[in-house]
Amino acid sequence: MFDNKSFLQKYGSYYVKGTGYTILLAFIGVLFGAIFGGILALLKLSHNGFLRFLASAYIEYVRGTPLLVQIFLVYFGTAVIGLDLSKMVAGCIALALNSGAYVAEIIRAGIKSVNKGQTEAARSLGMNQSQAMRFIIFPQAIKSILPALGNEFVTVIKESSVISVIGVAELMFQAGNVQGASFKPFLPYLIVSLIYFVLTFTISKLLGVAERRMSTSD
Ligand code: ARG
Repeated sequence: MFDNKSFLQKYGSYYVKGTGYTILLAFIGVLFGAIFGGILALLKLSHNGFLRFLASAYIEYVRGTPLLVQIFLVYFGTAVIGLDLSKMVAGCIALALNSGAYVAEIIRAGIKSVNKGQTEAARSLGMNQSQAMRFIIFPQAIKSILPALGNEFVTVIKESSVISVIGVAELMFQAGNVQGASFKPFLPYLIVSLIYFVLTFTISKLLGVAERRMSTSD
């Protein structure tokens, strides 16, 4: 009954495929989320009140509604306006739109964490606002932004499990497939949890190393 070897031989390919989709979803989600989040953060820091309002409204709305609901909004919303997106593309878009709101806050907090005196010093040296941001503030802010972006990647790997609701064949979805095929209720999910753990734990450890390297340059 517990002959796990043949279990993995039989269903291993489901997990391999699922892991591939999970990593792809998370990678694309965070990549585009970071680009979008950067734009949102810039809008939030802009002098134009209307742009600031738009960015804030978006960020609050996304952070105040469940990812599960957002996935359905994107998947069915794009269908309603006549876009025939694949599940995978809809899933990536939903993740990126969600992650962008969180990344915007990460970037904003990073920029805010740099002492105000740094801007004043840069300005007193004759730099204008955007030079001060580019050459003085941002290079310091990046030290707190990058580790937080790494954590966001870990979060998105876990959150990508929710994309299974629209039928993308990522890890969580594959666990259901294996459950149905093997008639074992528990083992498929136990294995999936271990795979998620290996992914997230490895990334956190790598991040820890990168963070220590960066802080030694202080
Ligand atoms: N699970 C929560 C939700 O459904 C949190 C999502 C967090 N997303 C992120 N990109 N950090 O809203």
